Amino acid sequence: MTAEESISRIAQEVSVCTKCVLHESRKKSVPGDGPATAEIMFIGEGPGFHENEQGHPFVGASGKFLDQLLAQAGVTREDVFIANVVKCRPPGNRDPLPDELAACGIYLEAQIEVIDPSIIVTLGRFSMSRFFPGAKISAVHGQMQKIGERFVIPMFHPAAALHQAALKPSILGDFAKLPEQLNEARAALGKPVIVFKRKLEEIPDTSPKQLNLF
Ligand code: URA
Ligand code: SF4
Repeated sequence: MTAEESISRIAQEVSVCTKCVLHESRKKSVPGDGPATAEIMFIGEGPGFHENEQGHPFVGASGKFLDQLLAQAGVTREDVFIANVVKCRPPGNRDPLPDELAACGIYLEAQIEVIDPSIIVTLGRFSMSRFFPGAKISAVHGQMQKIGERFVIPMFHPAAALHQAALKPSILGDFAKLPEQLNEARAALGKPVIVFKRKLEEIPDTSPKQLNLF
């Protein structure tokens, strides 16, 4: 089986899964999107209203912001795999419960094993605590750490940054560091460096404007 076939097989299993109570209220499961060979994997929390309708991750307001953040890192959705810690929507967007996280974890672990990304970026506390139990996001965000055979970077959840303006520069700065961190991770894993086709016109100019005195 190719990696793409394995990822499709996992998505198929998720779509008929009844391992936790979240299956009762789901419209569409949201297994995750992206190439099975992605170098960077993002792990969010769980489907919200729009994700449950459409079956794809990060398609609502925080998804629009995630697209901007990805542009900041010089990548697009076609380059990365985006998944969640639970694949079905918690009713009313409540937090996922421990037994739901445990039940759904087997799918996430299977996806990580197949994709074998150099870097995992955790978005939000449920995803972070899988890798960094007890860590405080305000203290560790943007810092890459080696965990087993790959590197993990905890980041703020895009929805948190949307609602708390003060977090926005932090999350933008963390995403801007990703290309460099990916090459650092790849070098440590013995893989060749990647040159990013960073689209400069998509990166907001935050440098102070030159004063024109004449
Ligand atoms: N959409 C998702 O798919 N995951 C989140 O964590 C938030 C919005
Ligand atoms: Fe199965 Fe995960 Fe959906 Fe629960 S959330 S029903 S474990 S796919």
